[in-house]
Amino acid sequence: MSPMNLKEALKGKIPEKDERYIYRAFEIIGDIAIIQVPKEIEQHKMLMAETLCALHKNIKVVLRKIDDVSGKYRIGKYETLIGDRTDTIYSENNIRLKADPTRAYFSSKLGTERERITAQVKDGETIVCMFAGIGPFPINVAKVRDVTIKAVEINPEATALFAESLKLNRLKGKIEIFTGDIKDIVPNFTEKFDRIMMPAPKDAPEFLDLALDKVKKGGIINYYSFVPAEDYDDLEETVKKQCADLGRKVEILAKRKCGNIGVCQFRGAIDIKVLD
Ligand SMILES: C[S@@+](CC[C@H](N)C(=O)[O-])C[C@H]1O[C@@H](n2cnc3c(N)ncnc32)[C@H](O)[C@@H]1O
Repeated sequence: MSPMNLKEALKGKIPEKDERYIYRAFEIIGDIAIIQVPKEIEQHKMLMAETLCALHKNIKVVLRKIDDVSGKYRIGKYETLIGDRTDTIYSENNIRLKADPTRAYFSSKLGTERERITAQVKDGETIVCMFAGIGPFPINVAKVRDVTIKAVEINPEATALFAESLKLNRLKGKIEIFTGDIKDIVPNFTEKFDRIMMPAPKDAPEFLDLALDKVKKGGIINYYSFVPAEDYDDLEETVKKQCADLGRKVEILAKRKCGNIGVCQFRGAIDIKVLD
């Protein structure tokens, strides 16, 4: 990282009155930088992109995020400022992922959470990963554990990228990719699994019954939920009650904050052990 940030680098190059609109933070995925340019300083967008590339020599593509993630596939809207492609290779925890933010959801911010989940998994586990996206959770786990993972994702563009990433990594475990709706695919799995991963906070509660139905007694559900900040402390009890209402007794093994939407909402990661 350069010691100088974009705001400092633009000092004197844009009118002082416009400086307050510059976002300090931006996301880097591989050699792609994703920046936000408020409409008040739209006229400086190319200068901002060029300045960023000058600061970070490894950046080859600059995308401007013009709309937040939305829709079932959770994809944002982007304008290309620099570069002639939108795909890249992203590395974390010794794995490589083919990513393209314009085609499929991916967040580089959850690398530590993926490392935490991987550390829990034991060789020999059978796993379902719902909402698999381009495969960051399954590939992290299968890289270092001799497991069998069924990964389910509805966006065909995401599973195409996922399939490409399988070729980029030498894995210890096996991954089978299913393209389609979890509600159509998971009920057809005839066996019960040691672990169900559900890395999609927005829709997860709607799919908890299916996860509970497919997990073995004693098995684990890695569950995620967005909650208002004031409800975070009650999240364990809320999840326990949701499971009880669905007829299952559970123990919460761990809870942690991993991300937020503004200051008002937290992404809670909950590890659920299904007792009965
Ligand atoms: C927030 S993204 C998370 C992706 C991935 N787990 C990750 O961490 O990068 C949620 C994903 O769930 C997928 N999805 C949403 N509803 C689904 C459904 N009913 N069946 C299968 N996948 C679904 C979306 O297409 C999207 O890729």
